[in-house]
Amino acid sequence: MATPTLEKSGKAPEPEAGFADSPYITATFRIRRFNPEVSEEAQWQDFQISIDPKERVLDALHKIKWELDGTLTFRRSCAHGICGSDAMRINGKNRLACKTLIKDLSPEKPITVEAIKGLTVLKDLVVDMDPFFQAYRDVMPFLITKGNEPTRERLQSSEDRERFDDTTKCILCAACTSSCPVFWNDGQYFGPAAIVNAHRFIFDSRDEGGEQRLEILNDRDGVWRCRTTFNCTDACPRGIEVTKAIQEVKRALITRRF
Ligand code: SF4
Ligand code: FES
Repeated sequence: MATPTLEKSGKAPEPEAGFADSPYITATFRIRRFNPEVSEEAQWQDFQISIDPKERVLDALHKIKWELDGTLTFRRSCAHGICGSDAMRINGKNRLACKTLIKDLSPEKPITVEAIKGLTVLKDLVVDMDPFFQAYRDVMPFLITKGNEPTRERLQSSEDRERFDDTTKCILCAACTSSCPVFWNDGQYFGPAAIVNAHRFIFDSRDEGGEQRLEILNDRDGVWRCRTTFNCTDACPRGIEVTKAIQEVKRALITRRF
């Protein structure tokens, strides 16, 4: 059902006098608001702001929060693509707000911003990340070894390191998992991010917990639920080949070679 659009718009400030070539434009941000203390229904709200299009969506959200509506709620921390806390759907695609430039979003039209899908929205752009991190914990994302503690560092060839280099780049933003249709339809699926982080250790020559992790992912809610739609790879802000990693884990389950 279509939800109404609120028209609470802030007045865009005029460019400062003497700056005729001001880069500022007036952009409309159409943000999906939800506050369970006010209404059970989410609704879109438009905010008009004056902003340099070379700024990022995160800068726009800050401007809206600080100048127009302090109740706007979203997560962010590092503001530089490292912490993974500000994944959201921007113009219908999962992206990090701090890595998305306004000029790349056709800002002459309203820019839509909403929470990522498949996880319960708590307020505005903030979702409940507990199921996501539970799946991550379930694949045991840490080095597992047997035997005595070594007296020196565990050595590894550069070729062996290369095998899982791509999946070390994950920042746990959930952009992949929340773009996956299987995850939307069935929140039980481990999801791409958990599999990526299992891959990071399964293919680490120093690790001895690969069999355990493969058994966990052999579950009915595990790796076989993947339908290879590539949404996850498209969504990953770190450029990780997520679908390829999932395929490698599937192959390891069949061949037991990793
Ligand atoms: S694989 Fe990419 S999209 Fe998925 S959680 Fe990691 S960084 Fe985010
Ligand atoms: S705020 Fe840290 S990744 Fe965007």
